[in-house]
Amino acid sequence: MNAHVENTHFNLHGTSVIEQPADADTLKAALRTLGGGVSIITAGEGEARTGATVTSATALSVEPARMLVSLNRSSSTWPVVERYGHLGINIVGSTHEALANQFAGRGGLRGADRYRGAEWTTAVSGAPLLVDAVAAIDCVVEEAIERHSHVIVIGKVLAIRLGAGHSLLYQDGRYHALS
Ligand SMILES: Cc1cc2nc3c(=O)[nH]c(=O)nc-3n(C[C@H](O)[C@H](O)[C@H](O)COP(=O)(O)O)c2cc1C
Repeated sequence: MNAHVENTHFNLHGTSVIEQPADADTLKAALRTLGGGVSIITAGEGEARTGATVTSATALSVEPARMLVSLNRSSSTWPVVERYGHLGINIVGSTHEALANQFAGRGGLRGADRYRGAEWTTAVSGAPLLVDAVAAIDCVVEEAIERHSHVIVIGKVLAIRLGAGHSLLYQDGRYHALS
């Protein structure tokens, strides 16, 4: 019997389900199927700027206007968000794939060098915002909850810039642009 058949069970409705161990690799396989909207988190000023590409940015609530993002505590971005108490959440579109890779650290660029090749403005909070983002949300840190490898940052929204288009999606290890 192969592993696939061994793990097949029938639920109360008589539908077959495949159970896998609840380990990190299986969870990653499940999460690869989940399309995530791509945002670039920005923080800091001048040469102290840095940032990261994330799929974890979403709304906590719209009234009051609060965002949340899950950031790796060992990333270069979290200490800068913590120090400045602000973050820009830049929802990026189909023209920003290279920039998203840059902010994921893929070209080896770090800190302020990740801002190369795009136009930026400074938000009310002091966070940099991407001028041609699909939308850019300026936040100050309301609360940061450190758990396990990550920190859940709750951002109080100070200002919003609305651009055009739709966010890039990241699914199955690659970007997808919605037309
Ligand atoms: C599509 C995509 C989504 C990502 N989502 C997250 C995320 O939600 N949280 C996070 O901490 N890192 C996420 N990362 C990883 C960060 O972009 C970055 O690689 C990581 O913070 C390491 O950055 P550092 O070189 O600044 O330390 C994602 C990367 C990619 C390509």
